[in-house]
Amino acid sequence: MNDNSGDTLKKLVSLCKRRGFIFQSGEIYGGLQSSWDYGPLGAELKRNIESSWWNFMVSTRGNVVGMDSAIITHPDVWKASGHLKHFHDPMVDCLKCKSRFRQDHVEGDSCPNCGGSLTEPREFGLMFKTSMGALEDDSATVYLRPETCQPIFANFRNVVTASRQRLPFGIAQTGKAFRNEITARNFIFRSREFEQMEMEFFVAPDEAEEWFDYWLQQRMEWYGELGIRRDNLRTRMHEEGELAHYARSCCDLEYAFPFAGDGWGELEGIANRGDYDLGAHIQESGQNLFYTDPVSNEKFIPFVIETSGGIGRTILAVLLDAYREEMVDGRERVVLSLHRNLAPIKAAVLPLSKKLSEQAEEVYRAMAPVIPTTFDVTGSIGKRYRRMDEAGTPFCITYDFDSLEDGCVTVRERDSLQQIRVPMETLPETMMGIMTGGWPKED
Ligand code: GAP
Repeated sequence: MNDNSGDTLKKLVSLCKRRGFIFQSGEIYGGLQSSWDYGPLGAELKRNIESSWWNFMVSTRGNVVGMDSAIITHPDVWKASGHLKHFHDPMVDCLKCKSRFRQDHVEGDSCPNCGGSLTEPREFGLMFKTSMGALEDDSATVYLRPETCQPIFANFRNVVTASRQRLPFGIAQTGKAFRNEITARNFIFRSREFEQMEMEFFVAPDEAEEWFDYWLQQRMEWYGELGIRRDNLRTRMHEEGELAHYARSCCDLEYAFPFAGDGWGELEGIANRGDYDLGAHIQESGQNLFYTDPVSNEKFIPFVIETSGGIGRTILAVLLDAYREEMVDGRERVVLSLHRNLAPIKAAVLPLSKKLSEQAEEVYRAMAPVIPTTFDVTGSIGKRYRRMDEAGTPFCITYDFDSLEDGCVTVRERDSLQQIRVPMETLPETMMGIMTGGWPKED
């Protein structure tokens, strides 16, 4: 899978546009670099991933609650978090070829691309600034949130009071984050507008390491549940000098992307943030964000174990992991072997001939309320199968001339290409059974 030539990524980008997963934003105007729009299939895939995360992290646990905070946050939140102070990089520009580099990525004082002279380093802020209200002076300056976790810390007391949670417990949210990245690249891997899935788990300080190990294992399990192959996932502990200013320890969960170099890229970080964030907000706001143990009455600042992943990166890993090219009956087929829970369309009803459209539409009407189903009558049956394979649709239901006689349809499984004949009157139950229990085993 780790084909670092760039070919796999190019093919996937083209499939994403062709089938309506992801488009370049503002394409008709030449495209806005590093902004991406999700098309009909991409929007469904994104929702499926996000709801799988929410289900795994929030709905199925009594000790994690959710929230949904504003994107435009009080500027003091970013002062307290250290973003205003730390969230920028010194940059140098080449006077000849106009390339821009992070100063610490350049050895010596000439351009790594063309050998030209470089400017003096200049600070490059990573937060998107805007102004609130009619005045555009400094007093009205606000920022688009560069991460979703800080509003969780700022709401710690509100959530504890409202939900009556006791330690250990977590607060989770998903949503947009914005960073004016110096170089946005590798399709949706690094963009300036992206979505995060973050959970902050508050614990007693002496239990932090134990929970760190627990969440690392849980998060790896979730990526496995999405159908990503274990060989393409690894964990990587941060070295001392690599740690962010807030972290006591951090481990990245990485995927073997087909990028230049060794390809391993971060999907998610699991970090022990200690008492940094609540401590910083106590200091900046002067408010009481301490936790009082209801049994011992001890008052302290909880430690935080954070799980912080990106939806875009997860989508990219899921798509790359599912992408296959293979020969079937002497012809190449491209297939997205998406896990059936993630597939945007679960089933396609295909009449073998246009003449059978009316009867096949009845099958479609019976299936549509049961699982996300589409109906396709245009082109040869072979072409329609190929379209559904590229869309990652796990099941095609074909209505043929025999269906008129025997009242059955053929269900084809995308990956094995196995087919079974199913009576139309029991089709919805049979398909629900397959969706939850898998494809029937041969006797
Ligand atoms: N609260 C901690 C935090 O935000 P991070 O490592 O900066 O940590 C967490 O970001 C996750 O967000 C990353 O693992 C990645 O999946 C995603 N992410 C960060 N910057 C991104 C970008 N520019 N484009 C796409 N995803 C990004």
